[in-house]
Amino acid sequence: MSERKPWWEGAVIYELIPRSYSDGNADGIGDLHGLRHRLPYLRWLGVEAIWLTPIYPSPLQDGGYDITDFKNIHPELGDLSAFHRLLTAAHDCNIKVIVDLVLNHTSDLHPWFQRAKWASKGTPERDFYVWSDDPNRFAEAPVLFCKFESSNWEWDEVAQQYYFHRFHKHQPDLNYENPLVQKEMLQVVEFWLKKGVDGFRLDAVPFLFEEEGSRCEGLPKTHDFLKKVRTRIDSINSNALLLAEAIQPAHEAAPYLAEDELHGAFNFALTAHLFAAIATGTSQRLIDCLKKTKEILPGCRWALPLRNHDELWLGDGHLVPEDIVNSIRSGLHQGHGHWLNWGINRRLAPLLNGDPRANRLLHALIYSLPGMPCIYYGDELGMGDWPGLRDRDANRTPMAWTAARNGGFSAAPDPLLTLPPITAPGYDYRVINVEVQKQLPGSILNWHKRMLTCRKLLPALRHGDFELFDSDHPGVIVFARCFKSMKVLVAANLSAAGASFRLDLSKWDGYRTREVLWGCDFPRASKDWFVYLPSYGFSWWLIGEVSDSLQTKVDTI
Ligand code: GLC
Ligand code: CA
Repeated sequence: MSERKPWWEGAVIYELIPRSYSDGNADGIGDLHGLRHRLPYLRWLGVEAIWLTPIYPSPLQDGGYDITDFKNIHPELGDLSAFHRLLTAAHDCNIKVIVDLVLNHTSDLHPWFQRAKWASKGTPERDFYVWSDDPNRFAEAPVLFCKFESSNWEWDEVAQQYYFHRFHKHQPDLNYENPLVQKEMLQVVEFWLKKGVDGFRLDAVPFLFEEEGSRCEGLPKTHDFLKKVRTRIDSINSNALLLAEAIQPAHEAAPYLAEDELHGAFNFALTAHLFAAIATGTSQRLIDCLKKTKEILPGCRWALPLRNHDELWLGDGHLVPEDIVNSIRSGLHQGHGHWLNWGINRRLAPLLNGDPRANRLLHALIYSLPGMPCIYYGDELGMGDWPGLRDRDANRTPMAWTAARNGGFSAAPDPLLTLPPITAPGYDYRVINVEVQKQLPGSILNWHKRMLTCRKLLPALRHGDFELFDSDHPGVIVFARCFKSMKVLVAANLSAAGASFRLDLSKWDGYRTREVLWGCDFPRASKDWFVYLPSYGFSWWLIGEVSDSLQTKVDTI
């Protein structure tokens, strides 16, 4: 009997911000109804899951990551029945739905916090949050939003104590030492699972517990609680995905992926190395990072984002070495002057100088490396950003659907729009939009669709193991993905110059090699197998004979 793989293994995940995606009732704000009508587009594109940034009631001081009610929908987005309709329609389109779950904190307007500050010291109500008379506790925990905050503690006049917050001061950290907090949050997990969601993106998981003398990240108690979350979901829907946001190097993120804990985690260190490879035109450090990742946790459980709704997180030398951070900062000119907190606050296309070749190359890599490729909405078009907007809003502007007013995002008068659509030169929504790009055969959008179609035909890219090859070329990375009898060889050139190089394919001596994306045969595999890749070029070869039916499908993509 063939082993059944979980749906998320190698699944292509599409992150979107419901407020910025599609406005269904012409009030200027994207909503669940609008999103539901865009599902055919997402199915056409070929994504397998959508991840929605927080959809809950919130004062929206932090993009909805400041929640006032975990068991409801923000009224501007719709209501629980609109959510149900979205979920049903998504499932009808064979698309899974992952929701963001913020375990670490709430909004300071959450009734729990309001109750806590008025409650007497030492009561369970007060102890829903982390309080102290001394703002020097947990001094080794770095301030994450360092652009906005200077301390992790904030004085509360009513409570006459300081409360702890790893993020904005309006986001007090929940106190997981309190069993009532654990109980409430497990109920939240249960609530959404019973509504039918297919998984959770677990926001900021490392920070649930605090301990003196530590960075307050990934403490054993935090793992214990996450295991409880896993047990709870397994008891309701063991098919649901738990995907961790832990912005830590792979060896620190891997413990979340213990068999009895979470299923997946973003590999942010790999993301940084992908950008560094483009910034320097060299591949060695990326190769080293992939080797290390494989040693730490082989397989396809890493989620692979390029960009997301935050800044491109690089850190202070903890996530990746400082020289990697510096090479990105100096090599990607369009990032200059856009540093925010711990990273670069720009979207993918502008960060890559508007160069569609680099955009394709990075996506081609995440589409072929082991893991779950994550597309950030709009990046499939090469959409631009709006530097200067508040906080990370620069990267969160409306999706461009058509050349019509507001990019087809909303029929509301302009002043009502949640954020301005992009009109910057080179990225104007009248050109960079879904409708126009669908009609242009050579567009980046059609390229993404083709790549995802091709990926679906090549299960080795989804489930296969991963083996690096030597190319002896400083700008090139070569690897194979093999699954059952299928072998796919991948090569990518990260430099702006063409690359010709030799590969030793003696292990497949005499096998047929067919380039899938270009649709042509190469010489049979041999010890001295020569390849040429243009500037930022990449290739996927099927190695060996394949069934006629696969061959026909591949040939007609
Ligand atoms: C995560 C989110 C980010 C948010 C923060 C606080 O890092 O991705 O957008 O601001 O958590 O919830
Ligand atoms: Ca709306």
